[in-house]
Amino acid sequence: MHTKKDIVTFQDIQVLVNSFYDKVQKDELLAPIFNNVIQNHWSEHLEKMYRFWETVLLDANTYFGAPFLPHANLPVRCSTNILSIG
Ligand code: HEM
Repeated sequence: MHTKKDIVTFQDIQVLVNSFYDKVQKDELLAPIFNNVIQNHWSEHLEKMYRFWETVLLDANTYFGAPFLPHANLPVRCSTNILSIG
């Protein structure tokens, strides 16, 4: 049986973020939304997301961005489809 362990290190954060975005890339609804904006800047985006989650989950204070604006004009509206990722 696979035992889940808690997220306690930066490497754990990378596993979390990388596996989330692997799923995004396979999702026909979400993949184009991300790829249209991020294009060939994935390494910068992933780096930002590591810092964001490291700050949220490990109190690391390494993320200083402003997440609202990059999302405000995305072509995403409330939809039950969005909940089906996974
Ligand atoms: C359908 C849901 C979502 C979509 C399509 C989406 C998409 C995006 C896109 C396209 C960007 C900009 C990337 C770039 O310009 O390089 C971004 C940035 C970001 N997103 Fe999301 N996002 C979603 C949900 C979330 C959620 C739920 C969170 C957090 C709980 C989140 C946190 C962030 C953060 C921290 C950034 C970086 C902002 C910055 O500092 O520039 N996003 N997202």
